[in-house]
Amino acid sequence: MSDLFKKELLFKILVVGDFGVGKTSIIKRYAEGTFSPKYKMTIGADFALKQLDWDSETRINIQLWDIAGHERFGYLTSVYYRYAVAAAIVFDLTRPDTFFAVAKWLADLRDKVSLPVGRPLPVIILANKGDVAANKVPPQIEEFCKKNHITSWYVTSAKENRNIDEAMNRVVVEVLENQ
Ligand code: GTP
Ligand code: MG
Repeated sequence: MSDLFKKELLFKILVVGDFGVGKTSIIKRYAEGTFSPKYKMTIGADFALKQLDWDSETRINIQLWDIAGHERFGYLTSVYYRYAVAAAIVFDLTRPDTFFAVAKWLADLRDKVSLPVGRPLPVIILANKGDVAANKVPPQIEEFCKKNHITSWYVTSAKENRNIDEAMNRVVVEVLENQ
């Protein structure tokens, strides 16, 4: 089908989680195909765009919101969360405390974002830095997801480009199911 007749959708997707877990790296890998080992803290929020030719009739413009993980930016989240249709919560497999913070990020999302249809926001969990600690997946993760109506979680690596496209496709499917 000619591009002229394609249906265009715009999805705002949030990426949250503690500082240094790899949110910016995952977004850079997904949207630009690059990775840097240097840490540069995100200030406030940032965003990136990715265009997906989903099927022959549909083009999806994904707007990824990269939310600063550092506590001092916490008060800003309700502004950044507005009009989001889904979220990815990221934690760092090498730092167990960042998994415990997932519950806090989820509560913040559930508290501040409601979809017009009244359904809960689709959320996925990304266990990042799988290239260095794939064997450190917290055993509670399955139960945590089940209890909180989260349908998918993935071990990812922004460094080695592992499972990032798969995870993002899964989010898109869940958003489309809500349309
Ligand atoms: P804030 O902006 O402070 O919230 O942090 P962030 O979550 O955006 O983390 P960022 O993407 O800046 O990554 C933090 C550090 O982890 C950087 O040094 C990255 O290079 C590194 N990193 C990110 N993802 C991976 C990964 O998959 N594997 C490895 N080995 N390192 C990673
Ligand atoms: Mg960042």
